[in-house]
Amino acid sequence: MAKKITAFFCRECGHESAKWMGQCPACRAWNTFVEEKISPVTQKAKPVNALIQENGGITRLSEVIVTDEDRIHTGISELDRVLGGGIIRGGLCLVGGDPGIGKSTLLLQMCRNLANDNRKVLYVSGEESAMQIKMRADRLGGFRNDIDLLARNDLEGIIAVIEENRPEVVIIDSIQTMMSEASDSAAGSVSQVREATQSFLRVAKVYGISIFIIGHVTKEGVVAGPRVLEHMVDTVLYFEGDNQACYRILRAVKNRFGSTNEIGVFSMNSSGLEEVVNPSEYMLNGKPEKEPGSVVTCCMEGSRPILVEVQALVCQTNFSMPRRTAVGADYNRVNLLMAVMEKRMGIQFSGCDAYVNIAGGMKINEPSLDVAIVAALLSSYKNRSFTSKVLAFGETGLTGEVRAVSGAAQRVREAVKLGYDHIIMPLANFRTLPDEIKNDPQVCIFPVANIRDIGEVVQ
Ligand code: TYD
Ligand code: MG
Repeated sequence: MAKKITAFFCRECGHESAKWMGQCPACRAWNTFVEEKISPVTQKAKPVNALIQENGGITRLSEVIVTDEDRIHTGISELDRVLGGGIIRGGLCLVGGDPGIGKSTLLLQMCRNLANDNRKVLYVSGEESAMQIKMRADRLGGFRNDIDLLARNDLEGIIAVIEENRPEVVIIDSIQTMMSEASDSAAGSVSQVREATQSFLRVAKVYGISIFIIGHVTKEGVVAGPRVLEHMVDTVLYFEGDNQACYRILRAVKNRFGSTNEIGVFSMNSSGLEEVVNPSEYMLNGKPEKEPGSVVTCCMEGSRPILVEVQALVCQTNFSMPRRTAVGADYNRVNLLMAVMEKRMGIQFSGCDAYVNIAGGMKINEPSLDVAIVAALLSSYKNRSFTSKVLAFGETGLTGEVRAVSGAAQRVREAVKLGYDHIIMPLANFRTLPDEIKNDPQVCIFPVANIRDIGEVVQ
């Protein structure tokens, strides 16, 4: 028997080292090295393209035929959009996300649609038994055609089944449960995950099978983060959202066949994931009318403008240290904006608690949120509301100046589409707006150069 030796791998990026290190030299992450067994004789990897023909496999670029049919439509338009128009034949796609976010549900729904379209799909689950998958399928409903299930986790066996059955689309749920005989380390370790992905990559490219790999992301734990495989796959999608909030966002982080600016919005309900066709309307559901401390803003999720409500509550404090909290917005940013308001607008927040909340459970990191936070704080502080259809966006600097943000015209259009016709926006952006918006008699724009100007719009 060959002697087993060990090596150290970075859990974040998969960097290999002979000795333990505190910091990974490749990705600079701290304390991520784990020891794993490796075989001393590494197996020679099979070439990815096994169909090498004459001329060494050289083809001329002009002779490669690309047809639109190469895209398989999933029947879920939000997913198609994120994938760049549909599934690519022979593409390897990683779907990452926290446990319980809905990865298995989304892909099972996709399988159902593909099967109903008479496509051959195979759902491989190393986590759940066939019965558990059936229970989920019953919950989802609408299965007109059968799909093939495979509840096992031995990599070599699964590859053999795929090679024999040649399905069009394969789901691997999840990569962390796959075990290869070629590697001695535990399931979910860096070398296992990497080995399994390599094998699926080869099968995908050789037979033109589209493979979706599910990967869990854990904050701190034993399983290798899917970041290790990001560079191996064609497309990386992340499914994010709060477990409590019922909406979910599917985001393309890497896409060799499409834009990474696209997002898909879903909501989780009793019969699976439902597409949210109009996220702005969804986010503003239940917004109070004409209440102090509530302002609507428009943020950009990739190339998509989404309207959200920013709420602030400023009230007299009962503590010696006033409380400040921010939910959905950056806490430090809120503190900074309050300091700027104190200095530039002369507002005394020192005796006040302040709470800022992005309604609907979205987390927004964009600087364009600044003006809306300032407006909401001001409105709550003065206990006066804005005219009902006000929307505000723009970045604020330390001197109180309001700076331009990207995608201004798109934001204004989305606002107008949803009936928000009083728009507070940076002066610098206003100048570059197309004439058709500037001259629109329905839209009333308040260009602001400094946060002091915002007060004038309060009723
Ligand atoms: P799941 O897809 O198993 O998550 P993941 O594979 O990402 O770990 O399901 C996530 C959650 O969704 C689970 O807590 C139950 C819930 N859910 C519904 O609310 N409605 C449904 O129809 C289904 C199938 C699941
Ligand atoms: Mg799952």
